[in-house]
Amino acid sequence: MNHSFRMSGALLLFLFIGISATRAQKIQGLALTPPMGWNSWNTFQTKINEQLVKDMADKMVSSGMLAAGYSYLVLDDGWMGMERNEQGDLIADPVKFPNGMKVIADYVHSKGLKFGLYNCAGTKTCAGYPGTRGYEYQDARYYASVGIDYLKFDWCNAEGQNAPESYTTMSKALAKSGRPIVFSLCEWGSNKPWHWAGPVGHLWRTTGDIGVVFDGSRKLDGGWTPMSAMRIVDIEDTLRAFAGPGHWNDPDMLEVGKGFTPGEDRAHFTMWCMLAAPLMAGNDLRAMSASTTAILADKDIVALDQDKLGIQGYRVSRTDSLETWAKPLENGSWAICYLNRSNHAQTISFNWSDRVINDSLSHRVFNSALGTYKITDLWKKKSLGNTGKKFKAVVPSHDVVMLRLDN
Ligand code: GLA
Repeated sequence: MNHSFRMSGALLLFLFIGISATRAQKIQGLALTPPMGWNSWNTFQTKINEQLVKDMADKMVSSGMLAAGYSYLVLDDGWMGMERNEQGDLIADPVKFPNGMKVIADYVHSKGLKFGLYNCAGTKTCAGYPGTRGYEYQDARYYASVGIDYLKFDWCNAEGQNAPESYTTMSKALAKSGRPIVFSLCEWGSNKPWHWAGPVGHLWRTTGDIGVVFDGSRKLDGGWTPMSAMRIVDIEDTLRAFAGPGHWNDPDMLEVGKGFTPGEDRAHFTMWCMLAAPLMAGNDLRAMSASTTAILADKDIVALDQDKLGIQGYRVSRTDSLETWAKPLENGSWAICYLNRSNHAQTISFNWSDRVINDSLSHRVFNSALGTYKITDLWKKKSLGNTGKKFKAVVPSHDVVMLRLDN
């Protein structure tokens, strides 16, 4: 009796701590569709400075990226001075950013963009700059004073810290700062943030860092083995129930324009859109080819990602490394993607009436027997008639055929 009383008391206390640690405190109404922008890390690591940011801001506008929806310019690790100032405030690196961070934020805002910064929940960032541990409220005030709109918050040098607690503290600090700041959790999925971060942040990384590896596992120069784009896709497919407007699974930033073949760039980008992923370009926008721009700024593909329902797509079937993915869209439309992960082209040929898709999560059903859909090949920009006739297409190796079906 005594024992069970103690047990239930302990359980209640545990539940109470659990609930109060994760009670909704993030600023609501931000990131109702997946955030889109550009982040400095994938190309520049810590080699960033004032001129680079200005160039990227200019390019985001002149290349059409902003018009396509990429509105956040985010400076990742390496923007800070190595020490806080005498008041304990963060400072911008005085050599890279001699005019301070407010000047940068103002410049970025003057271009119609939003501005983001990076820090870490631990004592130091991954690259060794001052971390936020113990300075959460002070740093949030600094971010609000600079005028940032987005904070990416990493998980290096956080030994012994509790992830839900650390991220909740920062989330509360941001909410108190008085400025609406999108909160992007980056603890690589280590503590299963999809179970607790919904009330805490607007997006959370689900995996380790991406690299320019399409599938499988391969060591890159420098000896690190990144997550391949397709390995990330596999992991994300197990997490779709946790994503939705205001709270997204983040499969990491884009590697489009950084060394994949054009087909792989298309497949990687299309799958991120099918997954309703945050779209953070990571390439050097100053050296972007016309084909890279055409992929990143494709309004039809981006529209799948930004669909207001915010339903993450899922793998419907897989045969011989040819996968069929589906994503329910607004107004009864569907995105259906054929992804060829094999090293040879594959032909698909079927009758739509044999392809009923029943999404048990969103309770949406695609059934052309109940009403005809018009078909558009979104990459070829071609209308393919309707679901009344047999469908045939070739999916090249490491590429996709991306269809939109509207009724
Ligand atoms: C971690 C993150 C990356 C990047 C670096 C910066 O590895 O996962 O996205 O922010 O830190 O040091």
